[in-house]
Amino acid sequence: MKTIIEPFRVKMVEPIKLTTREQREKLIEAAKYNPFLLAAEDVIIDLLTDSGTSAMSSEGWAALMRGDESYAGARSWFRFRDTVKDIFGFEQVIPTHQGRAAEHILFGVMIKPGSIVANNTHFDTTRANIEFNGGEALDLPCVEAGDLDSDFPFKGNMNIAALQKVVAENGSENIPLIMVTVTNNSGGGQPVSMQNIREISRVARNAGIPFYIDACRFAENAHFIKRREAGFENTATIDIAREMFSYADGCTMSAKKDAFANIGGFLCTNDPELAHRERNILILTEGFPTYGGLAGRDLDAIAVGLREILDEHYLDYRLISTAYVVRHLLEAGIPVIAPAGGHAVYLDARRFLPHIEPLQYPGQALAVELYLEAGIRGAEIGSVMFGLDPHSGQEEPARQELLRLAIPRRVYTQSHMDYVLEAIGLVWARRDEIRGMRILQAPQYLRHFTAKFDWI
Ligand code: F0G
Repeated sequence: MKTIIEPFRVKMVEPIKLTTREQREKLIEAAKYNPFLLAAEDVIIDLLTDSGTSAMSSEGWAALMRGDESYAGARSWFRFRDTVKDIFGFEQVIPTHQGRAAEHILFGVMIKPGSIVANNTHFDTTRANIEFNGGEALDLPCVEAGDLDSDFPFKGNMNIAALQKVVAENGSENIPLIMVTVTNNSGGGQPVSMQNIREISRVARNAGIPFYIDACRFAENAHFIKRREAGFENTATIDIAREMFSYADGCTMSAKKDAFANIGGFLCTNDPELAHRERNILILTEGFPTYGGLAGRDLDAIAVGLREILDEHYLDYRLISTAYVVRHLLEAGIPVIAPAGGHAVYLDARRFLPHIEPLQYPGQALAVELYLEAGIRGAEIGSVMFGLDPHSGQEEPARQELLRLAIPRRVYTQSHMDYVLEAIGLVWARRDEIRGMRILQAPQYLRHFTAKFDWI
């Protein structure tokens, strides 16, 4: 069969409230033109994030009922720990309530003022947690990542030459760890090749620097390797994932992504002494080391989700359904990051709205217009998110101005995506009339979540 279907059927539904354009004009004005400040009820298709928004399976829900809520040493903990060890392969597993809690603990232990952390591209919470501890977060994406038209299959790769230079100039005393984010969320959801992971690991090991993987979308990345990297065609995706982690010394993970869970995360390492220090902070901020801020039922749901996410029929459907949206946009001549990433479609707002200056936030303007057009909610990844240096207070244009439309796992059907495509086409047709935006009020860190805007 040529038709690719969703490899699941629907057992329970959530109604969508439909709104009119007039209603949406009032709603987005009341939300100060920041989609994060809208009520979810007032959104028709919610593509704000793929994080915590997945549909769990019948097995996932059954696991919730099995949850053991004992304070210490619960059965759920052992099921969770053993699953994480089996796939990720690290000795020490530390549960946290979500990914950024793992980052907070990791960087709290490893970063000193002046420390440098290199990454292909730091996610915003990763960057903020490094900067909060006085460190510097360096993005070293590969050259191809900057060319939105390049069809290079691994645009999530790190620039190895740039990494070698940073390591040579700063040494292991100033670089407490090197990270790579799979897939590269802020860089367009693009995958990192096994070859690149091996090379980062080699640079890190030669310099005696620990190498960590930000593993949020590890299964999508592993499946991209299977489908795109020579030599992996016949390897099971779970074994590709295991090989990826075998080159690293630890990882941070948000189970809200590639574990189908609505909450949860973890931190892993092979270093027992480091884990001991991390657990001491865990007890202070998250909870006892066998639950770390999660209910027993959450640990069980994550254990089931980590197995399900590696189902290759699911992963084929996942990558193909995202590529479907990108293909139709490209056919309509609409600027979008290509080739398609795994979890999201990234409209290139700089080329969509070339008449709007970067510091008049074209990505934000596009987000607001898509909401007005059809009640679709996306997230700006551009100068709102990354333009402000929290130390100097200076604002500079970000590397890219993107509008991310993240696709929750197993939630929307192909006709929902057709609706999204039609809406983008309608906004594209009237793009010349769209104005830029200004910020009325914003905090120093992670300002995109709460900033208030108005039209220029
Ligand atoms: N790292 C990456 C690459 C992420 O995408 C996220 C979250 C985190 C770390 C933090 O995890 O949310 O569980 O604390 N990304 C979400 C997103 C919020 O919409 O992309 P968290």
